[in-house]
Amino acid sequence: MTNRKPPAQGASRDEPKVARAGQLKPADPMSPAERIEVLREQIRSHDHRYFVLAEPVISDYDYDMLVNELRDLESAHPDLITPDSPTQRVGGTPTSSFPVVRHPVPMLSIGNTYNDDEIRDFDRRIRDLLGPERAYAYTVELKIDGVAVSLRYEDGALALGATRGDGEQGDDITANLRTIRSIPLRIAEESPRLNNIEVRGEVYLPHDGFRDLNALRAGREEPLFANPRNATAGSLKLRHPRVVAERPLRVFLYTVRFEDENGAIAEQPELDSHFERLSWLAGQGFPTNVEARRFDTIEEVIAFCHDWEERRTSLSYDIDGMVIKVDSIALHGELGATLKSPRWAIASKFAAQRAMTRLTDIRLQVGRTGVVTPVAELEPVFLAGSTISRATLHNEEEITRKDLRVGDTVFIEKGGDVIPKVVEVDMSKREDGSVKFEMPKVCPVCETTLVRVGDEVAVRCGNAACPAQTQARITHFTARNAMDIEGFGPAVTEQILGSGLIEDVSGIYYLDKERLGALERMGEKSADNLLRGIKASKDRPLDRLLFGLGIPHVGERAARQIARHLRSIDGIMAATEEELVAVPEIGPKIAESIVSFFQNERNLEIIQKLRAAGLRMELEPPEGGADAQALAEGGEHAQVLADKIVVITGTLPNHTRDEMADRITAAGGRVTSSVSKKTDYLVAGENAGSKLKKAQSLGVEILNEEEIEAQLSGQQTT
Ligand code: IVH
Repeated sequence: MTNRKPPAQGASRDEPKVARAGQLKPADPMSPAERIEVLREQIRSHDHRYFVLAEPVISDYDYDMLVNELRDLESAHPDLITPDSPTQRVGGTPTSSFPVVRHPVPMLSIGNTYNDDEIRDFDRRIRDLLGPERAYAYTVELKIDGVAVSLRYEDGALALGATRGDGEQGDDITANLRTIRSIPLRIAEESPRLNNIEVRGEVYLPHDGFRDLNALRAGREEPLFANPRNATAGSLKLRHPRVVAERPLRVFLYTVRFEDENGAIAEQPELDSHFERLSWLAGQGFPTNVEARRFDTIEEVIAFCHDWEERRTSLSYDIDGMVIKVDSIALHGELGATLKSPRWAIASKFAAQRAMTRLTDIRLQVGRTGVVTPVAELEPVFLAGSTISRATLHNEEEITRKDLRVGDTVFIEKGGDVIPKVVEVDMSKREDGSVKFEMPKVCPVCETTLVRVGDEVAVRCGNAACPAQTQARITHFTARNAMDIEGFGPAVTEQILGSGLIEDVSGIYYLDKERLGALERMGEKSADNLLRGIKASKDRPLDRLLFGLGIPHVGERAARQIARHLRSIDGIMAATEEELVAVPEIGPKIAESIVSFFQNERNLEIIQKLRAAGLRMELEPPEGGADAQALAEGGEHAQVLADKIVVITGTLPNHTRDEMADRITAAGGRVTSSVSKKTDYLVAGENAGSKLKKAQSLGVEILNEEEIEAQLSGQQTT
């Protein structure tokens, strides 16, 4: 296993406590099935020691021998391969899209506090709700700055891994989560508690992994991730599990929910303490954070939070605060939750981390829509996990308000979010003779006069042929999440544009080997590779092409919805604003932007050239009817409720609301909690209250259980 990186800490090469490869081979030959099981158990145990405990007990070489032996046996006996085998972590097939899954219990977020008094208020609310006599304790954990995930284990095996999404439903990213080596594919089944369980936690990227990844990307001229959290989120949404497996993602699990045989929550009164559940999780082989502590008083909690605010930089990963949780699970039930967050937990957020550095220049960047953004060039400074050498300044007003001048000593901050900000100037350090910033009147690249559009604060370069805009559009078009043309990094783009080989994105498809080969530093092999990448991209799905065109406001999700509903570029070009807003999730701003994009002659020409070059301009035509089409769109069944937005209310005669929601989701529908104009159906049972009234007033179609059943059963017959 060459991809085992040394663990961060505590690596030891003790006398092996687990037998070395080969030593276990007994005198009596085992059957292949038995030997396979023995090997899997050993590898699982070594993975746990290595990736969870950071205490490996065998060398990488010996570990590789075990894996090789298992692989050999499995390829000789493919019928013995099971999905929970350590050899099966990385699936071979890329995902075309991530199916949406509903969380049986919503993944709530938590309220934030920013100072000690707010933490005391939280404690007071708990005491008021429980009454003065009740005793309770708190467990306090680090708030890991990563991406929340849910892992479902059925009969001990990892069955589903999902993102939080909007809290109600997320994306099924099982294949990607399986590649995280510290996530057990199977858990020890010694406990009677183990029916099905769901564990939740946070996936993150440690600092060293983040730095390595960005260094690699810089080498390949790929855009860098702003911080470890973005890198984590991006990694989990990659379509190739193989690529995810190369990212050193980690996870801490912090919640477990036990289910009984019927899928209902099993209370587990003998494991009522959250703190003890963390130990239980660790005992089952899950990675948990060892810094959690339990306290009886809120003042101890506050002191612990302060302690970590001081020490946060000593960690090898980012945290953005602490999470304070009432320890007793039974009390969670009593305290309940508001719509968004539980009453039994709160986050204590840290103040943003600050650093001081020098503003060396203010550069203007021209985006693909012509918006000109001033960017601060900074003397590189390390802050909260990454080196900062640049920060956006948004617009001229912001610079004027802060009176930022080149040469100033400035404070930069990295808040809960992403992008570093220049927060203020240290005026005491301002040098004599510094000059007030003035926004140039012309585009720094093509010298077209800049204009302010309407009441926007931003200024734009109105020249659609501006090389900077073209470059940004090409970068967007060729990016991974758009047409995914390998080898088309910023340097190559700049070179191709600079030599006048192409003028817009359609030109990419008219490049040939001769002209590419004439470029400096472009060897024959690189030219071949690039042309191969370009050719392969012609068959990208319609939504990626639509997204790649870079129509203002049309993001990936909007492009997907529009492609699904309008089914071809011609359909989209012909659509009116009204037809576009009828597509779920598409609002007037997007609709207007699309219509105006396709009114522009130059854009129509580009489409024409792309069409002539043979790009796919339609959704894949359905082969063999609805089922095949649904499959092509990533569903298991025909999606009779594809993209229908459904709200369920009241008591249904034969199903719980959750069951109904699951069936609707399985049929491609989206179940939401409140009725709006966009709702397609309200499924109403007995005692339906305000939602029914609202649906009636908005003219939303109302179905009873029988009627929605009829729609759903259309699923089998169409
Ligand atoms: S508990 C219902 N514990 O913070 C409570 N969350 O703002 C569920 N997070 O979505 C969350 N570390 O992504 C909890 N130790 C921790 C956490 C943690 C990070 C994230 C998580 C959650 C968000 C809440």
